[in-house]
Amino acid sequence: MTYVEAATAPMRKTGQIKLHGPEGFAGMRRAGQLVAEVLDLLSEHVQPGVPTEDLDKLVLEFARDRGALPATLMYRGYAKSICTSINHVVCHGIPNEKPLREGDIVNIDVTLVLDGWHGDSSRMYAVGEVPRRAERLMDVTYEAMMAGISAIRPGGNVGDVGAAIQAVVEPNHMSVVRDFCGHGVGRLFHDEPNVVHVGRKGEGPVLRPGMFFTVEPMINLGRPHVKVLSDGWTAVTRDRSLSAQFEHTVAVTETGVEIFTLSPKGLDKPPYRVAA
Ligand code: MF3
Ligand code: CO
Ligand code: CO
Repeated sequence: MTYVEAATAPMRKTGQIKLHGPEGFAGMRRAGQLVAEVLDLLSEHVQPGVPTEDLDKLVLEFARDRGALPATLMYRGYAKSICTSINHVVCHGIPNEKPLREGDIVNIDVTLVLDGWHGDSSRMYAVGEVPRRAERLMDVTYEAMMAGISAIRPGGNVGDVGAAIQAVVEPNHMSVVRDFCGHGVGRLFHDEPNVVHVGRKGEGPVLRPGMFFTVEPMINLGRPHVKVLSDGWTAVTRDRSLSAQFEHTVAVTETGVEIFTLSPKGLDKPPYRVAA
């Protein structure tokens, strides 16, 4: 793997990992904060009876009002502003007219483009009171994402992230999805490197200051295997077990890691109510 100054790199995937300067950090802080703000706002709107389509509209309006656009809109034929992945949906669930139901858990994934920079983040939300095992899954998934992020430092390796995630998930008898991974991000939505959520410490490309990527583990209560439904997008667990995901956009810094998509309200993991 080779590295290239982002400022002089072409606006496409080049097989090299782009290294960004101060301008990139400034742009990503703004895009990341906007995404975090709308994810905070969604907390109040995720309620039994609310169709995911309404959440989609809310995000589109929020973005437009602030001079941003959802990156998923018209991305490879995807026609919505967000992904809403409910219960056994692993990722890329398409918002629709069906109302959310008490006890559902839902991942909402938002990518906003602001001044050409992509902020990409997702969180789990509980619809009313959720079962205890759903809460456990969401807790372990959040802990796994944060362990992956904490493993990031200049001179480390991409494999350190996956290793740290696996070390949280597998002792809890849950599984890490292999078919989708984190990705480089910046002026492009999906760039080098691939950030696999399993791995071995010391393996993979070396982490360098100025690298931007997402950490977005998908964790299943059952087996890791997924299948994509006939709509071409919705990925579900093959065994229909519950699945959860969190995602942050981060940068490697001179001293460690910076998270661009932290919640201004401390709602990175929204509060969950558990049924007795
Ligand atoms: N936001 C997702 C990610 O984390 C990608 C969604 S692509 C879509 O990379 F087309 F399904 F929206
Ligand atoms: Co992503
Ligand atoms: Co995302």
